[in-house]
Amino acid sequence: RSSAEQAVVRRSKVFNDFPSKGVSFLDITPLFLNYQDFDVLLSYWQQKFQDVELVVGLEARGFILATAIAQKLQKGVVLLRKKGKLPGTVLSETYSKEYGKDEFEIQEDIFSHAPLPKNLHILVVDDVLATGGTLCASIELVKKALAKNNIKQYKISTCVVSSIKCLSGKEKIYEKYNDVSIDVIHEI
Ligand code: PRP
Ligand code: MG
Repeated sequence: RSSAEQAVVRRSKVFNDFPSKGVSFLDITPLFLNYQDFDVLLSYWQQKFQDVELVVGLEARGFILATAIAQKLQKGVVLLRKKGKLPGTVLSETYSKEYGKDEFEIQEDIFSHAPLPKNLHILVVDDVLATGGTLCASIELVKKALAKNNIKQYKISTCVVSSIKCLSGKEKIYEKYNDVSIDVIHEI
């Protein structure tokens, strides 16, 4: 196991039957409390994603990770939020998760607020990959917003702390997007 994975294993915990029966909830909040272990994980991502120019964070737990890694990389962060939280014109995407439906949004013109390089490398960050619904919808939104802003040359990478293997989230995303990479630190 890598030191990043060891840190995750040490500082996360599975809660069975939360938030509903049959669902296993992976809680990584103890990692945030332990600065050194959190930093091990961030340093791993920093090394791996040196050439990333923009980070995208997914509400809610992805926000903390995305902002932390963006600060390490000295890059900006874009927030994808759940329905009704973002002002202005938004693009929306509904998706299903293990425990119900949800809707994510991105501000349509968000990419126009910063000078971006020609061949843009974007990193989409979340805590857990389960069914892949959340990550899939997020990739779709990022792609749509890039198209709206006339950005055609880009690469999307994604990273999560953990993935729940039996829910096949990775496969779902690879099936839909063969040009997107997924980096998982710990699989359960
Ligand atoms: C959780 C988790 C991921 C998502 C993964 O978020 O943080 O974002 O589910 O599930 P999926 O792969 O099946 O889509 P959730 O929306 O439950 O809550 P949060 O707002 O606390 O992040
Ligand atoms: Mg989430």
